[in-house]
Amino acid sequence: MSKTTLDRILQSQGFGTRKWCRSLIEGGDVRVSGFAAADADEKLEPEGLEFTVFGEVWQYRKHVYIALNKPSGFECSRKPSHHPSVLTLLPKQFALRGMQPVGRLDHDTTGLLLMSDDGAFIHAQSSPRRHVPKVYIASTQDPVTDALMDALLKGVQLHDEPAPLSVQGCRMTGRREMEITLNQGKYHQVKRMLAAAGNHCTALSRTRIGGLELDRLDIREGEWRYLEEAELALLEHQELES
Ligand code: URA
Repeated sequence: MSKTTLDRILQSQGFGTRKWCRSLIEGGDVRVSGFAAADADEKLEPEGLEFTVFGEVWQYRKHVYIALNKPSGFECSRKPSHHPSVLTLLPKQFALRGMQPVGRLDHDTTGLLLMSDDGAFIHAQSSPRRHVPKVYIASTQDPVTDALMDALLKGVQLHDEPAPLSVQGCRMTGRREMEITLNQGKYHQVKRMLAAAGNHCTALSRTRIGGLELDRLDIREGEWRYLEEAELALLEHQELES
């Protein structure tokens, strides 16, 4: 990558306007390689650059890819209507650099949510042609029965869908709890499918996307972490290992 001025680097990382970034540098609030960076016009190689702003350490990232363990009560929208946005759970630099959820979870759904500021990645992951399995744990109002699982596997008709939708897989994990694997992501799909099959979803949590498993990421509810390249590659895995 070509060398860029420090003010532009900070701006690209979500620290605000170029003018604001210059004022941070000139005010001595930015350090590079341990030294206060006084010259906003100094050209630096962004790749691999580590810097601090107000004492907090940052690493230059062309794009950011994170996994969030989403709590209930947050909307997957930049302009939420009834609940705070999931963006409020992240550093404010992330919103400023255009981070968005990759697909949506309902405000009351918990679990694995990917977020990024890489438009091509978001577009590719959200494409209806992608059939990466997404795994959910659903709690149900009535007990899980063989008939319920058969109906979901065979397909249930939702009122605004042209053809019945079926789950890719399902198994009982408790008397009123089941694991459901979908390979599409229609609006409220799990909840509407359970309702169409005669039950009611009382709680929902996403546990996996492709081969990326929330438990293995070790992120507490409400927390997030950067995803490494090897973890992003797991999103391509169509088959889930058990
Ligand atoms: N299906 C739903 O009904 N809700 C979600 O949040 C995700 C899948």
